[in-house]
Amino acid sequence: MAPEERPLFLLATTNPGKVRELLPILAEAPCRWVTLADLGITASVAETGQSCAENALLKARTYCRMTGLPTLADDSGLEVDALGGAPGAQAKVYAGENATDPQRIAFLLQKLEGVPWEKRSARFRSVIALAFPDGRTYTVEGTVEGLIAFAPQGSGGFGYDPIFYLPDKGKTVAQLSLEEKNALSHRGKAARQAVALLKELLGTGKT
Ligand code: IMP
Repeated sequence: MAPEERPLFLLATTNPGKVRELLPILAEAPCRWVTLADLGITASVAETGQSCAENALLKARTYCRMTGLPTLADDSGLEVDALGGAPGAQAKVYAGENATDPQRIAFLLQKLEGVPWEKRSARFRSVIALAFPDGRTYTVEGTVEGLIAFAPQGSGGFGYDPIFYLPDKGKTVAQLSLEEKNALSHRGKAARQAVALLKELLGTGKT
């Protein structure tokens, strides 16, 4: 199918860091992508679900209804074992509704004060939901394991990346290039599954 004939899908995230990471991977799917910014949509969706899956579905369904386009949304979170899995799906609002990334990091580091290296295990989780105008929905998920560093390092990525340390790399996620992060990240893993799913769905004419 010629690129301009491919079906149009909405990448529904207001987070520019997620758009930057997702678009190069989603470009492999047999569809065309527009973003919320392309459509001039600034409305955000209240994340009232208890889990990343619930929130991803909520966002995908809401923007799908708003635009009439098949829609992909990501909801992600950070699970810190020493905090019983917190902040989890609440990672964005853990340090307050309008906190900046440096404030979120400072807040989390404070919560982990005195926690030794071997007890600082954590994982990022990303759930990507797809919602179609006919009501069908799908979810895929990716995780990456790491440790919460004692201090921020690096300036790449977004969110908690400067304190998410990858023992195998000897670096935080913020010290990786976009390509390196996408190759191993929770979101990269989920996005590659979403591409495989889209290839299957579009290839068999189910959309
Ligand atoms: P949400 O998916 O919009 O609920 O936001 C999840 C929050 O988790 C983000 O605002 C970040 O603080 C954090 N987060 C999610 N994914 C990442 C990531 O790849 N790196 C760093 N922080 C992330």
